[in-house]
Amino acid sequence: MIIVTGESKNYCLLKNSSLSCLLRINNDQPELLHFGRPVSETDASALTYPPAVGWGESTLYNAEDASSCLDVAPLAWSALGAGDYREGAIELSIDGRQISPDFKFTRFEIMDGVQKMNSTLPQAKGSCETLAVHMTRSLPETEGELELVLYFSLFETALTRRCELRNNSKRTVCVNKIMSSMLDLKGSFIMATFNGGWIAEAHREDIPVGMTAVVNTSTTGFSSNRHNPGYMLYRPGTCESSGEVYGFNLIYSGNHYASSQKSLQGLTRTMQGISPAGFAMPVASGECFETPEAVMTWSEKGFNGMSRMMHRFVNEHIIPRHWQNKKRPVVYNDWEGCMFSFDERKLLSLASKAKKLGCELFVLDDGWFGARNSERAGLGDYTVNRKKLPGGLEGLSAKIKAMDMQFGLWFEPECVNPDSDLYRAHPDWAIHGDSGTDYLGRNQLMLDLRKSEVRDYITENVSRIADSAKLDYIKWDMNRHSTLSGTEAHRYILGLYEVLQSIFGTRPGILLESCSSGGNRFDLGMLCFGAQAWASDNTDPVERLDIQQGLSYLYPQSAMGAHVSESPHSQTLRQPPLTTRENVSFFGDFGLELDLDHLVSVEEKEIKEAIKFYKKHRMTLQFGAFSRLEAYDGSIRWQVKNEKEAIIGLFHKLINAAPGYEWLRTEGFESETQYTVSSRPQGLRVKSFGGLVKHVAPVNINPNGLLIRRADMIYSMPDAQQSFECSGAALNAGIPLHQLYAGTGTGESIRTQGDFGSNIYVITKKEPASGANDN
Ligand code: GLA
Repeated sequence: MIIVTGESKNYCLLKNSSLSCLLRINNDQPELLHFGRPVSETDASALTYPPAVGWGESTLYNAEDASSCLDVAPLAWSALGAGDYREGAIELSIDGRQISPDFKFTRFEIMDGVQKMNSTLPQAKGSCETLAVHMTRSLPETEGELELVLYFSLFETALTRRCELRNNSKRTVCVNKIMSSMLDLKGSFIMATFNGGWIAEAHREDIPVGMTAVVNTSTTGFSSNRHNPGYMLYRPGTCESSGEVYGFNLIYSGNHYASSQKSLQGLTRTMQGISPAGFAMPVASGECFETPEAVMTWSEKGFNGMSRMMHRFVNEHIIPRHWQNKKRPVVYNDWEGCMFSFDERKLLSLASKAKKLGCELFVLDDGWFGARNSERAGLGDYTVNRKKLPGGLEGLSAKIKAMDMQFGLWFEPECVNPDSDLYRAHPDWAIHGDSGTDYLGRNQLMLDLRKSEVRDYITENVSRIADSAKLDYIKWDMNRHSTLSGTEAHRYILGLYEVLQSIFGTRPGILLESCSSGGNRFDLGMLCFGAQAWASDNTDPVERLDIQQGLSYLYPQSAMGAHVSESPHSQTLRQPPLTTRENVSFFGDFGLELDLDHLVSVEEKEIKEAIKFYKKHRMTLQFGAFSRLEAYDGSIRWQVKNEKEAIIGLFHKLINAAPGYEWLRTEGFESETQYTVSSRPQGLRVKSFGGLVKHVAPVNINPNGLLIRRADMIYSMPDAQQSFECSGAALNAGIPLHQLYAGTGTGESIRTQGDFGSNIYVITKKEPASGANDN
């Protein structure tokens, strides 16, 4: 509901059952009186800041009004040049001369649903109400005026904001900075951002916001693995299950910027939008510039409460409609197992094994085209390598589909190797440094998606192959940072969105998984086209605990590709057990990415069981309400829950000698309801006991001998299993778990796991059997 209220109709309240935003127009400027918990329109005057009498040397916006000091006002939009000396949200110039972007309110406009953008930028979709706050800034009489429209769309789970600058003047105006959103929030916050780099994405970093601005920005041309555009502002003392948290994100894949800064008066100003670094976008007379859409939500139920709001928002308003709430297939991807060396025989053998293990979609990754036998050549060419695939992609696809599997393919359409037919034919299609130097990344240059002929080339080729090979899935990769900055980087992203829309807008059934050296473009912009994104090239589950946990604050588990790969892991040489590789991958879009020809029979059996388990609980794992449980013992714990059941993952990193008790402690179970709880059966590999085996065997066994090696391949020992029934109250209070291995022997009631061990617990509401679970 959106209500314009107050005697002078100068208040506007956007409100639903979980959020509200109260604006007041004062001295022609939009004040933000409140954003967060739902308040009522009758609170409008109580929430208004009482008039004051100026502040020291600060200037007045209206000479008649001693309280019109913008520098201390709680604003929803502001700019330098009119008396607010905090960071401004917009900077404009004409003919290289800055003009004061002092826009004044003209009217409110209320709309049902979203106001469709004219540019190629993706935006949130689905049911909402939109408020447009119109503001103008007149230019000297003959030159007309500029109009700024601030859009506020209230969805059930988030508020989105964006703005439009309409040039109704006769002059060309240059936009040097324009944020999507700006808010002055009450009081102190800590800002949490998600940072890292290749194979180390989304590590949370927390910084208290004081009078020195905290800035979260990317300048790599993309949303980047260095600084994800999403961030949180939370009150000191907040934990996973309680405390006030604001979550923010941006529907954009290019250079982003967000800052938070506290004023002397105690307001925290936060803004987000396109990075202003190097930005200078000319907007000609009669044209309009649109910013990407910013997303914000609020919860007082801690980080988990905020995450659940964001997850619902992403699942319901970002992900392409076709994929909303639709189960994601279990993938087999050949990359880590084969890299560039494969042929059709190898692929078909892998596909038939993958099928037997339970995979539903076979994905052929890099290396199927041109002279692409390494990272050095072939990128940009779309001719199939007939030596590897004599029957072409059509032939391979038909054979895979005949096995009753779906078929998917990797592309990296935005780049070109200088050693490629495409580059030799069109060197001008690549982006060259203007200083005459070419900056290669992974031996490749970027194609210039600002050019329509390049966009057409990519659209035609990807579409042609998607149709002829009957692709069910496309992995869209992009493996380098950009050398474009500012306005040009933005134009590139607009070109990319146009291409994605042309290919996938008409092929909604193709599951698009975006990837960029792993999680270098894990953002809401890409998720508007593809329902999932590859979280990281790091498939070591111990690393994934941090990466997936970091992403989980703002992105749902259904958006994260998570595969089981070979140990020792190529990224770390760490050797976590297969069970932990599976258990971590369960909390995302599960897949396998290892050479199946190297599996021993005990591993095959285990993986088959794991996939069976995943499929049985898939809807809960992919779409259940996600919580990070506080463990108080150094372990990491994830809970997913829906009406019928919950799954909890309990993960250890390094184990201490003499480990203490551990409890299974859940969140949000109904106290009076009875539940059954059981751990997922897991095996222990014989070889993990090394020479200790001889102490329990009747004969003296050589731990490096044939007997142990053979036994290890075919047999695993059951790890302790635990099953019980109890009430939700007991689960929320904490149930003691079986003892961890403590060097004093093992047995049926000991969890004998060692470093990087993990368990999965399934909790089911106890009620009359309701038929088969069709997840
Ligand atoms: C990137 C991706 C990987 C894989 C390779 C192929 O590194 O992140 O998953 O597709 O490219 O070259």
